[in-house]
Amino acid sequence: MEYVLVTGGAGYIGSHTVRRLVGAGYSVLVVDDLSSGRGEAVRNASFEKGYIGDAARLEEVFGRYKVSAVMHFAGNIVVSESSTDPLKYYGNNVSGTITLLSAMQKFGVDKMIFSSSAAVYGSPDKTPIEESTAVKPVNPYGRTKAMIETILADCDSAHGLKYVSLRYFNAAGADPSGELGEHHNPETHLIPLILKAVFENRPVSVFGNDYPTPDGTCVRDYVHVNDIADAHILALKYLADGGESNVFNLGGGTGYSVKEVIKAAEKVVGKKIEVKFEDWRPGDPPVLVASYAKAKRMLGWEPKYRNIEEIIQTAYRSKLI
Ligand code: UFG
Repeated sequence: MEYVLVTGGAGYIGSHTVRRLVGAGYSVLVVDDLSSGRGEAVRNASFEKGYIGDAARLEEVFGRYKVSAVMHFAGNIVVSESSTDPLKYYGNNVSGTITLLSAMQKFGVDKMIFSSSAAVYGSPDKTPIEESTAVKPVNPYGRTKAMIETILADCDSAHGLKYVSLRYFNAAGADPSGELGEHHNPETHLIPLILKAVFENRPVSVFGNDYPTPDGTCVRDYVHVNDIADAHILALKYLADGGESNVFNLGGGTGYSVKEVIKAAEKVVGKKIEVKFEDWRPGDPPVLVASYAKAKRMLGWEPKYRNIEEIIQTAYRSKLI
């Protein structure tokens, strides 16, 4: 039996992708150290607890399972922490990925789908952002993603690794089954923080109301986690069909301001949400909106969730915040 190995498969986007892979008939092996993921989020898949930076453990796992491709989600994701503890990010994200790639090379596994981020673009002036926009990250987190993309390209040149790097914009929502959700500790993302504030009956903090945007709050492109998961499966098929290594944006193509997201959340929860304006969060670009034309053209991918209310609804229903 051939497995798709999913690193970080117990995490938010990883666990949703495992669910979709299993639903599509793939045999899935999750490798996760459970440092931030939750074991109970992994169902109907094989599971090996392990850290991607542990070469001996990885080689032991690759020795026991026949792996056809790797989907690599494992990594640290808190932008602010990456500025205060850069070595954690360069160690786990960059060194960890090098260890993983070395094990793949040793066992002849030549396909990877990598979780990249809009953070590689930093704060571009042009919107919507296309993949040809310069890679100019503005924090260590974004730099780890950009470095890994460079490493992947070098591995392709040197020994034919084929990869797809998916640059996610703002992943949001949850599987409509209500069985999976978004759990980060600490939580830094807007939609779960709005819902948390609603559940706890307190105001939501809004970071900045004097950005150069129509209503003064930051504009982001929210894309449903299951749409992201489906893009991974399409990317896997693209590589299996002989596709060349490539990078793709994953976004919904529509920008919503923080105030608009809160308004939409009010409709979902059916009550007014109090807001507390605070200072800008360091490093937050005013506007990040994707062009997903390339993913549509080359992968046949399009987001199915088009409406921010519908995305928030799935997060609200999951109650797993
Ligand atoms: N925000 C608030 N209040 C909060 C939390 C967030 O106003 O309590 C605002 C932020 O300032 C930002 C927007 O809501 O303008 C979205 O913030 P998130 O933290 O949800 O998401 P980011 O856009 O900061 O982060 C996302 C990804 C990162 C990626 C980054 C690229 O989660 O992985 O985009 O800039 F690095």
